[in-house]
Amino acid sequence: MRFYVLVSWAALAVGACAQSSSADAYVASESPIAKAGLIANIGPSGSKSSGAKSGIVIASPSSSSPDYLYTWTRDSSLVFNTVIDQFTTGEDTTLRGLIDDFTAAEAILQQTSNPSGTVSSGGLGEPKFNIDETAFTGAWGRPQRDGPALRATAIITYANWLLANGNGTSYVLNTLWPIIELDLNYVENNWNQSTFDLWEEVNSSSFFTTAVQHRALREGAALATAIGQTSVVSGYTTQADNLLCFLQSYWNSGSGYVTANTGGGRSGKDANTVLTSIHTFDVEAGCDAVTFQPCSDKALSNLKVYVDAFRSIYGVNSGVASTAAVATGRYPEDSYYNGNPWYLAVFAVAEQLYDALITWDQLGGLNVTSTSLTFFQQFDSSMTAGSYDSSSSTYSTLTAAVKDFADGFLEVNAKYTPSTGALSEQFDKSSGSQTSASDLTWSYASALTAFAARSGKTYASWGAAGLTSTCGGSGGGGGSGTVSVTFNVDATTVWGENIYITGSVDALEDWSPDNALILSAANYPIWSITLSLPASTYIEYKYIRKYNGAVTWESDPNDSITTPASGSYIQNDTWR
Ligand SMILES: *[C@@H]1O[C@H](CO)[C@@H](O)[C@H](O)[C@H]1NC(C)=O
Ligand SMILES: *[C@@H]1O[C@H](CO)[C@@H](O)[C@H](O)[C@H]1NC(C)=O
Ligand SMILES: *[C@@H]1O[C@H](CO)[C@@H](O)[C@H](O)[C@H]1NC(C)=O
Ligand SMILES: *[C@@H]1O[C@H](CO)[C@@H](O)[C@H](O)[C@H]1NC(C)=O
Ligand SMILES: *[C@@H]1O[C@H](CO)[C@@H](O)[C@H](O)[C@H]1NC(C)=O
Ligand SMILES: *[C@@H]1O[C@H](CO)[C@@H](O)[C@H](O)[C@H]1NC(C)=O
Repeated sequence: MRFYVLVSWAALAVGACAQSSSADAYVASESPIAKAGLIANIGPSGSKSSGAKSGIVIASPSSSSPDYLYTWTRDSSLVFNTVIDQFTTGEDTTLRGLIDDFTAAEAILQQTSNPSGTVSSGGLGEPKFNIDETAFTGAWGRPQRDGPALRATAIITYANWLLANGNGTSYVLNTLWPIIELDLNYVENNWNQSTFDLWEEVNSSSFFTTAVQHRALREGAALATAIGQTSVVSGYTTQADNLLCFLQSYWNSGSGYVTANTGGGRSGKDANTVLTSIHTFDVEAGCDAVTFQPCSDKALSNLKVYVDAFRSIYGVNSGVASTAAVATGRYPEDSYYNGNPWYLAVFAVAEQLYDALITWDQLGGLNVTSTSLTFFQQFDSSMTAGSYDSSSSTYSTLTAAVKDFADGFLEVNAKYTPSTGALSEQFDKSSGSQTSASDLTWSYASALTAFAARSGKTYASWGAAGLTSTCGGSGGGGGSGTVSVTFNVDATTVWGENIYITGSVDALEDWSPDNALILSAANYPIWSITLSLPASTYIEYKYIRKYNGAVTWESDPNDSITTPASGSYIQNDTWR
C-alpha cells in the first residue's frame, strides 16, 4: 500500500506544481482587484456605491436585471467580517474608519421600522434596506434570521480587538454593546422560529442560519462576561446549547451530507453547508464534527457530496475527471438565471479545504474515519480509515492532494474570470461567461477570505473548542421525553375573571386563545398550573385574561422558557 501511495503522490505532485503556479498567479492578480472591488461598494466614498450612506455596503452596483442596489444585513456583515479580519490581524490598518462607519450605519438600520417590525418587534430580521437607510417595503422573503447573528459576529470581533488593544471598555460598552445586544437578544428569542434561508427562497429552518446563530450567542456570552454584562450570559448560553443540539439534526448520516434546510422539497445539497464550515471555522476546535469544523469528517464528507452534485449538470464541467475540481453553484435544483455556478460557492469549497489543511498542520496529523473515507479515497482509492501522523508519507500524500484539489477550485474561478478581474455573481453553466449582478461585493469578499486561508491565515477563536452537544448522543433535535412544569403567575383579577395560558407547543394548545388552559386560583393572587411539556425545548407562551367573553393578552414580548432535560421545573411570572 505504501508503494501505491508513493506512486500516486508522484503523479499528483506533477499536477500540483502545474496547478499551484496558476493558482499562485490568480491569487497575485485577483487579490488587489477583489480588495478594490469590495471597497468600491461601500458608501459614501466607494467609486461604485454612489447614493449609499456612510458605512452602507451595496450588494452590487447593478440597478436592473437584477436590481441589487440595496444593502443586505447578511451580505454586509459577511463583507465586514472580511474587512474586520484584515484590520484586526494587521493586514490593513487603514480600515478602522470604515469599520466605525459600518457599525454606525448598522445602528441606524436596526432602529429603522420596516415590514418585519420595529427594533423590538421583529424588525431586526428584515433582510434588506434601501441604500439611503430607509426601509424597503416591497414583497420579499422575510424574515431572514441569519443577519442579526452575522452582524453581531462581525462587531464582536472588532469589540474584542478594541478591548485587547488599549481602547478601554467604555467605547465597547456604550457604543458597540448596545448594537450587539439587540442582535443577540433577537437571536436568543427567535432562533426557534422559521426563517428564509440565505438564498431567500426556503422558509423553514436552515443549517447556515442555525450555525451562525450558535456562534454569535457563544461569542456574545464571552464578550458579555468580559465587559460585566453578566445578566445576559445564562440566557445566551442556554440557547446556544439548544442551537448546538438542533444543529446536529441537519446531518443526514445515511447519505453523508448535511441537509441544508428542513423545508424546500429539495435534495438539501447546498453551498449553505460549505459556507457554514468556513464562517464558523475555529482552528482551536480542531476537527470537531459537533460544530462541523472544516476538517471534521462530516464536513469533508458533505463537501464531496455537494461538489459531486454539480459534476454532470453544468456544461463547463464536462470532461473533467471525476475527482478533479469543478464549478459549483448554490444547489443543484437552482433555476435562478437558469441555475449557474457562483464564484462565492467555488471559493467557499477551496476555503474549506485550505482551512482543513491549516488545522491538520497545527494538530500534527489527520484522521480518516468511516465517515470521511469516501472523501479521501478521491485522492487514493486504496485509502483506509486510520490516524496519519504528519511524519507519515500518507499524510504528505493526502495533504498535497487536498492542496492540489483546493487550488483546482481557484483555477476554475480563474478560468471564468475576465481579464479585468471583475467578479459578478455567477458565470454561465454552459458558456462560462459572466451573468447576473456585476461586481458582487460578496464575490470579492469570498475571494479575499479564500486567498487568506490559502496563505495559512487564522483568526481569533470564537469558543468552539471542546463543545459537546447537549442532546444526549442521538443528535436528533429536542429530547423525546417530557418534564413537569409548573407555571405560577402573580395576577390580580376581578370576581369572575380567570387567567389562562397558551403557547407554542401542543401541550399549550398552540397559541389558541379559545383552547387556552385555565389556571387555578387556589393560592390567589398566584395563579398556577402544572403541565407535562416536551423536555429540552424552547417554548414561548403568554397568559391571557378572560372576563365576560372578552380576551386580554399580556403585553409583548412573548414569555419564554427552555424546559430542562429531565425532572421538574417551576416558572414564576408576574402578569404583564
Ligand atoms: C476607541 O475606539 C473608537 C473606535 O475607533 C474610537 O472612536 C475611540 O476614540 C477609541 N477610544 C479610545 C479611548 O481609544
Ligand atoms: C425548534 O427546536 C426544536 C428542538 O430542537 C426543533 O425540533 C424544531 O424543528 C425547531 N423549529 C424551528 C422552526 O427552528
Ligand atoms: C413561514 O413559515 C411559517 C411556519 O410554517 C409560517 O407561519 C409563515 O407564515 C411562513 N412565512 C411566509 C412568509 O410564508
Ligand atoms: C484523531 O482521533 C483521535 C481519537 O478520536 C483524537 O484524539 C485526535 O485528536 C484526532 N486527531 C486529529 C488530527 O484529528
Ligand atoms: C409571539 O408568538 C407568536 C406566535 O409565534 C407570534 O406570532 C408573535 O409575533 C410573537 N410575539 C412577539 C412579540 O414576538
Ligand atoms: C419559583 O419559586 C419557587 C418557590 O416558590 C422556587 O422553588 C423555584 O426555584 C422558582 N423558580 C425559578 C425558575 O426561579
